[in-house]
Amino acid sequence: MRILFVGDVVGKPGRQAVAALLPAIRRERSVDLVIVNGENAAGGAGLTGEIAREIRDAGADVITNGNHVWDQRTFLKEIDALDFCIRPLNLPPGNPGAGWVIRNGALVVNALGRVFMAEQDDPFRAVDTLLAELGERAPRVRILDWHAEATSEKLAMGWHLDGRFSAVLGSHTHVPTADARILPQGTALVADAGMVGPRDSVLGIEPSIIVSRFLDHLPRRFEVATGVVQFNSVVVDIEDETGRARSIERLDREWLP
Ligand code: FE2
Repeated sequence: MRILFVGDVVGKPGRQAVAALLPAIRRERSVDLVIVNGENAAGGAGLTGEIAREIRDAGADVITNGNHVWDQRTFLKEIDALDFCIRPLNLPPGNPGAGWVIRNGALVVNALGRVFMAEQDDPFRAVDTLLAELGERAPRVRILDWHAEATSEKLAMGWHLDGRFSAVLGSHTHVPTADARILPQGTALVADAGMVGPRDSVLGIEPSIIVSRFLDHLPRRFEVATGVVQFNSVVVDIEDETGRARSIERLDREWLP
């Protein structure tokens, strides 16, 4: 099975680049399962049902989330009707939606880190508990969108799940990392896939806004930047029978609106 994992899609430029590039990539690389992180797809913060369907129609099988999952309040009411959208597994009980889904024969899980982030339930134990609960029902092919800030926490999860997940794929920082590799027991790992968002930006946001914030610490409305869009993703090849990753490679493009 070949999986394409696309980093955080930022706002309209990100969605447009996904719509423009994803269908061809999916076809040319014979991808079996496309997972897209959509937590910044609505104006840079959060997701809506309409935007989720737009990303699905562009070729995503599963849309994952992160710390911004509820930034668009309407999504609280929408997520339960969207069976291709998952939210972090380790949100406290009472949150709508599910933290995992089985699609095209693969288990896809979304988890949220805790280092330099808001308080959450323990993501390491949350994934362990899920695997114990699913038992034999869990497909061999298992992918984690690991939405976390600290590279230490991100790599630690890879080692924690080595041999138990096919791939632990980082999201959230919007900065693609050059560490994609296979761990000894067959788990593909990358600290961060990156983003699909404006290149000339700070994590997708207009640079002058973020620079000013660092200079005077005043609150400002974030605006998604414009111009060339970077499309960051990783392709993972997995042995269906064992769930072991054979290879992981970066797939990065640029797109001019
Ligand atoms: Fe995030």
